[in-house]
Amino acid sequence: MDLILKVFRFRPGRDLEPTYQRYIVAAEPQERILDALRRIQADQDDTLSFRSSCAHGVCGSCAVRIDGHCGLACQTLARGFEGRDVTIEPLPGFKVLKDLMVDLTPFFDRVALIRPFLVNRTPPPEKERLQTPADQGKIDEAIRCILCASCVAACPVTHGNPRYIGPAPLVQAFRRVFDSRDEEMLARLKQLAEPDMAEACTNRFECTRVCPKEIKVTKTINTLKREIAKHLGEGKGGRA
Ligand code: FES
Repeated sequence: MDLILKVFRFRPGRDLEPTYQRYIVAAEPQERILDALRRIQADQDDTLSFRSSCAHGVCGSCAVRIDGHCGLACQTLARGFEGRDVTIEPLPGFKVLKDLMVDLTPFFDRVALIRPFLVNRTPPPEKERLQTPADQGKIDEAIRCILCASCVAACPVTHGNPRYIGPAPLVQAFRRVFDSRDEEMLARLKQLAEPDMAEACTNRFECTRVCPKEIKVTKTINTLKREIAKHLGEGKGGRA
């Protein structure tokens, strides 16, 4: 099949405004959008810029907006797009560095705010800090987050409130709040009860719809709100 990609092109500082460039690429239905982008770069236009690494939905670097939906280029099949233009754009809400590459620094700064690591000051046992399968089950889904930023880019709350911490950082927070080995649960919940944190989510569900790892992001945020209310009192975490 022929895949017709209409790709966002922009070089800040050199181009006055973005344009869309049309490429026609031969692709098998089971090939991914990333395969087509790589083929364009290799055979047609080596000035096209986009990020990718693992090509298997693990690193999160290839997130773009495909036909209006934020997601991974390496997880989106060519099948279903035959016979029409498919628009490929950078993740919305981020500064474009070039073409499909955006500056994710503000995103990772927000992830860093929630301290995305285990805090445990108890001297470790000889081998490792153990966890029961049941305890691990509580965070299994959140662990799947690959920090691709698709949820943040798709979230209407994020676009309306630039101070909102955003869905992916909240998923990262969930993972630590419910990790039986972490000793900072209360401090974490207090941080999450602050304005523009968990309570700022208004249940728009776009994060859940676009998550390439099928994490129920909105449910995760609502669970955090309930946990805040349980430990810090009603009204601290908004309505769940
Ligand atoms: S290239 Fe790694 S997730 Fe797509």
